[in-house]
Amino acid sequence: MYTQRVLSGMRPTGSLHLGHYHGVLKNWLELQVEYECLFFVADWHALTTHYDNPEIVESHVWDMVIDWLAAGIDPNQATLFIQSKVPEHAELHLLLSMCAPLGWLERVPSFKDQQSKINDKDLSTYGFLGYPLLQAADILIYRADQVPVGEDQVPHVEFTREIARRFNHLFGGEVDFVKKALEASKKLGSKRSRLVQELRQNFHEKGDEMALERAKAVLQEAQNLTIDDREILFGYLEGAKRLILVEPQPLLTQSPKLSGLDGLKMSKSYGNTISMRENPDSLVIKLKKMPTDPARVKRDDPGDPEKCPVWSLHKVYSSKQALDWVKEGCITASIGCLECKKPLIESILNEQKNFKEKAKPYEEDIGVVKNIVSDGCEKARELAKNTMRDVRECMGLDYT
Ligand code: TRP
Ligand code: SF4
Repeated sequence: MYTQRVLSGMRPTGSLHLGHYHGVLKNWLELQVEYECLFFVADWHALTTHYDNPEIVESHVWDMVIDWLAAGIDPNQATLFIQSKVPEHAELHLLLSMCAPLGWLERVPSFKDQQSKINDKDLSTYGFLGYPLLQAADILIYRADQVPVGEDQVPHVEFTREIARRFNHLFGGEVDFVKKALEASKKLGSKRSRLVQELRQNFHEKGDEMALERAKAVLQEAQNLTIDDREILFGYLEGAKRLILVEPQPLLTQSPKLSGLDGLKMSKSYGNTISMRENPDSLVIKLKKMPTDPARVKRDDPGDPEKCPVWSLHKVYSSKQALDWVKEGCITASIGCLECKKPLIESILNEQKNFKEKAKPYEEDIGVVKNIVSDGCEKARELAKNTMRDVRECMGLDYT
């Protein structure tokens, strides 16, 4: 059966923190078991905002990949690669730019948001305006079905869908499309191929939607079709045009927002993070200093966990039983805040120990990481090249 393809990217912004782990990586861990997964380092995207200090990118790239591996991302299950090592992304970005309406780009919410938020650099650049289009190229070049992202990125996936639709509309009509479709349908065997033809006719001539659905089901079940065959046949069923680019779906992760040391969302820009591989001493100090419910001035002042940032960490790390203990102890002032933090500190230290053990062989020999990534880049490139062949062909660029 066809396994859906999942793609996601992260900008290399330095070592990852617990918010990344609980918010993103844990989700990737589940996805890598179930789907064909491609995870990449969006280094060009980092340059759209950090073009003025490019020297930081390289070290951040390797640190981030080590954090992925430390979290348990398995290079035997998922393909890990770096965007700039698959230059086809840039080619697709360029070709998509020919038909990307300026107004669509200007209307993507992150464009104006970031421009007004980031005051220390000039983001009125061509590259920054093109950020979502580059992201669209990242996704479309792999014909990804699902894109796991946080809420802030959903408009980018929506934008990608619109660009794909527009592209298919403009360039999807292919001269020898019908020939290719008939070729592919031969693989179905004569009986099923006739059935599909009949159903297609019913759909086209009588508008019978059920016939379309049935025909799709036949194709979905056919074992010996390649992904390309199936796509051509789907396009053939629905109309005469071929779907060159596949519209992806955003896959929203419902994970709790992890609060940082100050109770705000954990984020590098707030400087309130605990990194995945933190020094244990500094970790303990940070957690001990972490503010709690301001009502608990003295040891016997009762508190309310809902008003305490430590509680939100407990909710991620502690068992039901421990949570009851915290709640009860806090409200009745039968435990002190340091006492309350103790089991939390233990759990986080334990988790970190595990990350560090997994990271150790990679930290000791960065060559291993580089090999993993270079294998991943090669695999990704093969896939990207296939899409580019079709894109060039339908845009009339396949001459020699
Ligand atoms: N823009 C994404 C972010 O800031 C990173 C990214 C780039 C991405 N290309 C992508 C995510 C493609 C998903 C798919 O988080
Ligand atoms: Fe927060 Fe725990 Fe102190 Fe209550 S007892 S205020 S939950 S640290």
